[in-house]
This record gives sequence, C-alpha cells and structure tokens, in this order.
Amino acid sequence: MTQHAQQRDRFARTIQTALSDFLTAENLSGPGSPPDTLVSAMRHGCLNGGKRLRPLLVMQTAEIFGLEEARTLNAALSVEIVHCYSLIHDDLPAMDDDALRRGLPTVHTKFDEATAILAGDALLAHAFGLLGNPDCHPKAEIRTALVLELSFGAGAGGMAGGQSRDLEGETTGFSVREISEMQAMKTGALIRAAVRMGAILGGAGPDQLKALTTYGEAAGLAFQLADDILDLTASTKQMGKATRKDATRSKPTLVSRIGLEAAERHLGDTIHHAVSALAMFGPEADGLRATARYFAERES
Ligand code: IPE
Ligand code: IPE
Ligand code: MG
Ligand code: MG
Ligand code: MG
Repeated sequence: MTQHAQQRDRFARTIQTALSDFLTAENLSGPGSPPDTLVSAMRHGCLNGGKRLRPLLVMQTAEIFGLEEARTLNAALSVEIVHCYSLIHDDLPAMDDDALRRGLPTVHTKFDEATAILAGDALLAHAFGLLGNPDCHPKAEIRTALVLELSFGAGAGGMAGGQSRDLEGETTGFSVREISEMQAMKTGALIRAAVRMGAILGGAGPDQLKALTTYGEAAGLAFQLADDILDLTASTKQMGKATRKDATRSKPTLVSRIGLEAAERHLGDTIHHAVSALAMFGPEADGLRATARYFAERES
C-alpha cells in the first residue's frame, strides 16, 4: 500500500469516528429533542462507509499551510455531511431511484421516503451548524467565509442546481459543454468548496486561492467523469451501488456522448490540468497531487 493510500485509509477512519461522535441525539437537539428514527436515518446515511474524499481534500489543502488535522475537522465534517445528504436525496425515487448505496440499502429503502427527505434536510442544517460553532475556528470572519463557501457549493448554482440540470438532461439532450457544466455543478461545486475551505482555513493568499480553485475545479470534473466511466465498467459489488444505470436512465454523461475511450483520455487530461495547477507549491501539496491521481485510478 502506498503512503498516500495509508493516509487515505487512516483519515477515512478518523472521519467515520468523528461523524459517529457528532451524530448523536445530544448534538442534534434544538428547542426540542430529535426523533429517534430521524437520528437513526441520519446516521445510516452518513456512517455506511464512503471514501471520505471531500474531507480529505479539506485537510490536505489546509496541510499546505501547515494547519494541523484536528483544526480542520469541523469544516471537513461539514462538507462530508452535505455530500451524504446529497446522496440520500440523489437515491430517492424522484431522482435516481436507487436501492443500494455503499453496499447497504439506501435510506429511503431502509426507512421511508419522508424520513430520507427529512434526514437530508436535517443533515444540511447541521452541516452549517458545525461551521458556525467556535470549535470550527476562533475567528468569526473565517467561520463566515466557510459558511459562504459551503453555501455556494451546495446551493442552486452548485450541487443542488447541478442535480436539477442532471434530471433535466434525462429528457433534453445535452451538448458536451452542457454536460461539463452540469458535472461542474452537481459534483464539482462541492469538491471545489472542499478545497477552497481548506485554503480559507489555512489563510491562503489570493494567488494561492486562485491556483487551488483551478485544482478543485479540475479535480471535481475528473471525479464525476470517473464515476460515469465506472458506472459503465465496474460491478455493483465493487461500487456498492447499482452500475450501468446511466444508460438505462438516459443520463447525460460524457461517456455516452463521446464514448468510453475519449472519456478516459479526457479524464487523464483533466487530472493533468489539476496537478499542473499546483505548480507554485512544493512537496507540501503532494497529498493533493496524489488525491487527484487517485480520482482517476480509483476502482470503487
Ligand atoms: C458518489 O460520490 C457520488 C458522486 C458525486 C459521483 P463518492 O464516490 O465520493 O461516494 P462515497 O462517499 O465514497 O460513497
Ligand atoms: C451524484 O451523481 C451527484 C450528487 C449526489 C450530487 P450520480 O447520481 O452519478 O452519483 P451515484 O452514481 O448515484 O453515486
Ligand atoms: Mg444522480
Ligand atoms: Mg445517482
Ligand atoms: Mg453515478
């Protein structure tokens, strides 16, 4: 196992434990106490494995600036929680209608649709709570910047807007450019936000933030491109979710538009673009370089 693979594994375990510690009735309470079933559904949607790559990006970007892992934890968890919520909703019958996620029944299959919708709603709210909490960062202006960044990534011009376009594309044929725009939003926006949140935590200067943003955008596009390739080439067992679904559902993907080989070449070019964007950094950005390469090589 490479050093990077070991770091990824260890960090995924750290995130799993931190999520499990956070998603308790006590932490999730408001003026009232949270219903048990809702908490169970939220836990099921977050604690069912997952590669935890978005929190890894937060941590590895902050690492460039010498920030300790523990100081990135709230921000890292907030991004992963938004991601898990997006998957719970993505799997709903009104969206991709999937019964399997991370090798287990999807939240709406294990519980019911209303509970899955509400678990997603609550997770999104608590993700922002993690950023507002002074544990996240002692300076209020940094916390505010993180809140803004996550809201851009998750909102109508980001993930949720991209999901809306993805569904629209099932019936209206998309051009190559429209497909890339949709991918940049539905998946790219949250990956971009993860990198930029790490940069904000680390106190990146304008040129550094610009370079990291280019990295995040390219890595985000590559990530969805790889997902679309794996949908065609990988097994359900490998992925922990149904595969060969994009073609069945007439999803607008580059694989269907330009073919598998061209999509694989484009993936290679996009990873190259991501890694090139880090040219101003030295070995301190090796974690991000290795993660970008992993995005293209991953088998699950
Ligand atoms: C799956 O994301 C959905 C996409 C955005 C393509 P991941 O492949 O990161 O899923 P988990 O979190 O590891 O299950
Ligand atoms: C999911 O894209 C993107 C988001 C959840 C935002 P997909 O629909 O391709 O993801 P999978 O293949 O179900 O994981
Ligand atoms: Mg989808
Ligand atoms: Mg899906
Ligand atoms: Mg997919």
